[in-house]
Amino acid sequence: MSENKENKRKLTNEVGAPVADNEHSVTAGARGPVVFNDVWLMEKIGHFNREVIPERRMHAKGWGAYGTLTITGDISKYTKAKVLQPGAVTETFTRFSTVAGERGAADCERDIRGVATKFYTEEGNWDLVGNNTPTFFIRDVHDFSDLNRAVKRDPRTGRRSAQNNWDFWTLLPETFHQRTIVMSDRGIPASFRHMHFFGEHTFSLYNANNERVWTKFHFKTQQGIKNLTNEEAVAINGQDREFHGKDLFEAIEKGNFPKWTMYVQIMTEEQANNHEENPFDITKIWRHKDFPLIEVGVLELNRNPENYYAEVEQSAFTPAHVVPGIGFSPDKFLQGRLFAYGDAQRYRLGVNFNHIPVNRAKVEVNEYHRDGAMRTDGNYGRTTAYTPNSEGYWSAQPEVAEPPLPLNGVMWRFDPKDDPTDDNFRAGGNLWRLLAEDKKQLLIDNTATDIAPVTENVKYRHAVHCQKADPEYGKRMTKALDLDYDKVLELAKLDNNALIQATIEA
Ligand code: HEM
Repeated sequence: MSENKENKRKLTNEVGAPVADNEHSVTAGARGPVVFNDVWLMEKIGHFNREVIPERRMHAKGWGAYGTLTITGDISKYTKAKVLQPGAVTETFTRFSTVAGERGAADCERDIRGVATKFYTEEGNWDLVGNNTPTFFIRDVHDFSDLNRAVKRDPRTGRRSAQNNWDFWTLLPETFHQRTIVMSDRGIPASFRHMHFFGEHTFSLYNANNERVWTKFHFKTQQGIKNLTNEEAVAINGQDREFHGKDLFEAIEKGNFPKWTMYVQIMTEEQANNHEENPFDITKIWRHKDFPLIEVGVLELNRNPENYYAEVEQSAFTPAHVVPGIGFSPDKFLQGRLFAYGDAQRYRLGVNFNHIPVNRAKVEVNEYHRDGAMRTDGNYGRTTAYTPNSEGYWSAQPEVAEPPLPLNGVMWRFDPKDDPTDDNFRAGGNLWRLLAEDKKQLLIDNTATDIAPVTENVKYRHAVHCQKADPEYGKRMTKALDLDYDKVLELAKLDNNALIQATIEA
């Protein structure tokens, strides 16, 4: 792009030669066919035909903005990460998304919202790839592709299917808490600015003495929580499918910068060993009264991208990107994600996707990856391409190694439901009991609307899960779904396998 005033007027082809005519094809005679001689036309169409890249397999529809993370608290006793030290200010890029809809989907759908933030730290990029819920539907990577097939389009009709959605959800009781959240008033946020977001998984922090604690990341909106009812959302989607993108963009353009307060919860290794349930199970939460929120800093979004495709569409986040002082945990769901994102991005954007400006680290990158499609940065020139080498080039830095993690047990396909501490309904029941009456009623009404097209057997499964979480929740859901409460009570006596057997056929 030319800043030179004279050149600003001049159209060129892709290698800088001036273009004489951009509106009239070269034809054989005034009314004749187009000829190959019009190489500018061939270039133009050829490029246009290749301008679409694959959309993200999920979270395809999204909007993004740059900002800063400023650390106001002091958690240096837990982590040596420079990005989290008192007073640190780090540039960021955040992308918000819906999950199930494709790239052209409407913003105001009932769905969870993805919130992925890239922190361009002085120790390399740290990505926190979370959602606006503190928990998730499932906890084993094996179930992830199935979740997406259930919530995306039906293979026969090509339409989204409430039947598939609810059938899958209710066959996995661990989805219950997240089901309750998505059907609650928080299922359709009024804007991205008006929702909290979370890292969801248990991660680790380790300090300068290499002492580890477990942690969960929370970002609480300073704008306050605001949500839409089904009716409001339907009206907005009918008028403006890009409503949330517009809201974010315009707020930032006006200088009305949205902010979130960042907190961590901390659990020691000893507390984890004695915790009432698996602290690494993403479908569980850590109660705030037992693990209080510790204030860390403020994330502010204050700059819109200049180009949607270059910065939002081509952005790529992965939970695998951590920096010294921040680490993973034994959460097996997180482990699956560590592979999935880079793999998806090497397909979606190509092997050199981290060279795209929005993804590029702000620090010097010294690695031995070479070549690959669209390598445009000089490919490290003549620098030695192997290690170890005698030239003194880039060697590993053992001082940043994480503390070792003791493990025990046998290799096996464990089912968390066999763990006697596993309770899939406790958190959803606690949430129900916390809701004010108007929110309880909204949850019931939203569920009844969403599940209305679904067969009765699946409705029974959901009502039984509500009953197991809280008898009032069960009774009111049964009534709203027009089911027989005596039957719900009978089914509620069954264990999960027997309930599935009793409700497997319509
Ligand atoms: C094993 C489970 C999961 C797998 C295999 C998985 C996989 C993926 C993949 C392949 C993408 C598209 C990446 C791309 O093309 O750039 C994606 C996007 C995303 N995922 Fe997951 N995901 C999982 C669970 C989760 C969970 C639990 C969360 C939230 C805590 C989450 C949050 C996101 C977000 C926010 C995006 C969009 C990132 C962006 O804006 O570019 N995912 N996921």
